[in-house]
Amino acid sequence: MEIKKVGVMGCGAMGLGVAQVCAQAGIPTIAVKATPGSTDKIRSGLEKSLGKMVERGKMTTEKMESTLGLLQLTTKEEDVADCDLIVESIIEDLDTKKALFQRLESIVSPQTLLTTNTSTLSVTAMMAVCKQRDRVAGLHFFNPATVMKLVEIIHAFETSDVTISTLNAFCKKLGKDPVIVQDTTGFIVNRLLTPYMLSAIRLLEMGTGTIADIDHAMKSGAGHPMGPFELADYIGLDVVEAMTMNIYQDMHQPHVSPPHTLTRLVQLGYLGRKTGKGFYDYSVKPAIANPQLRHPVA
Ligand SMILES: NC(=O)c1ccc[n+]([C@@H]2O[C@H](COP(=O)([O-])OP(=O)(O)OC[C@H]3O[C@@H](n4cnc5c(N)ncnc54)[C@H](O)[C@@H]3O)[C@@H](O)[C@H]2O)c1
Repeated sequence: MEIKKVGVMGCGAMGLGVAQVCAQAGIPTIAVKATPGSTDKIRSGLEKSLGKMVERGKMTTEKMESTLGLLQLTTKEEDVADCDLIVESIIEDLDTKKALFQRLESIVSPQTLLTTNTSTLSVTAMMAVCKQRDRVAGLHFFNPATVMKLVEIIHAFETSDVTISTLNAFCKKLGKDPVIVQDTTGFIVNRLLTPYMLSAIRLLEMGTGTIADIDHAMKSGAGHPMGPFELADYIGLDVVEAMTMNIYQDMHQPHVSPPHTLTRLVQLGYLGRKTGKGFYDYSVKPAIANPQLRHPVA
């Protein structure tokens, strides 16, 4: 089966990134804004970021125009009715995602593949609410979706081989580097990365080093392109907290429980880059470590 049109549910960091990747690969794509409000701001933001790529010589004007021409934005879920593939990329909440999968089954055709971009939730749990389960799988892109090559294709309990092979071919058409993973909380990358970020937060809470020192050590000593706090801020601390809770509920081990500082930052709305403050304060350039975190947040 060839994927001729893609529907992306959610226009957040990941949804919009995935939609852009598909349109850049020449595939007509429609992205559905999942929360109320107009899509105008999203469209102008997209035009601005593609325009910057053209200015920097990273994209031709023709490519920018074709990408914008192939990428439609909407607020109506029913507009994905003629898509061959759905990539759900809304908030990391199982009940919200399950309800969306149920609605999608009554909108799309029986041939349409239904996938989720969840970071850690059970794809099988989303599959379980669907009548036709063999077409449900995970399609886990990495942030930023336009840059990162890996896509984890998640084989859930009743995903068919045809679904997996179609998704594999689709990822390759996008220029991505897919890996097939069995449905395990956190899959491969987040199962390994989440405990790593949590350990860094615990080192901070113990006073082992500052945010900047821990980040510097992992970049300089382990060759990582970003330190654990830079990475957590980049992912979004609400997403990191949701991944933590899901992995903790699965493993029940203290080292994957949510650290106090992470919980407090999320409660305060300091979610990282997307809100301008997290472990770092991005209101100044270059960003500085959030001054409130010189001492753990009480
Ligand atoms: N941030 C990452 O690094 C990353 C990487 C891979 C996958 N993901 C996954 O992608 C999905 C989206 O994450 P994101 O980083 O784009 O988050 P985001 O905060 O940028 O976007 C969240 C999206 O969910 C929508 N939303 C918010 N509340 C909602 C509700 N009550 N009902 C329906 N939709 C709602 C928002 O409108 C927005 O489109 C999540 O499942 C996340 O785990 C995130």
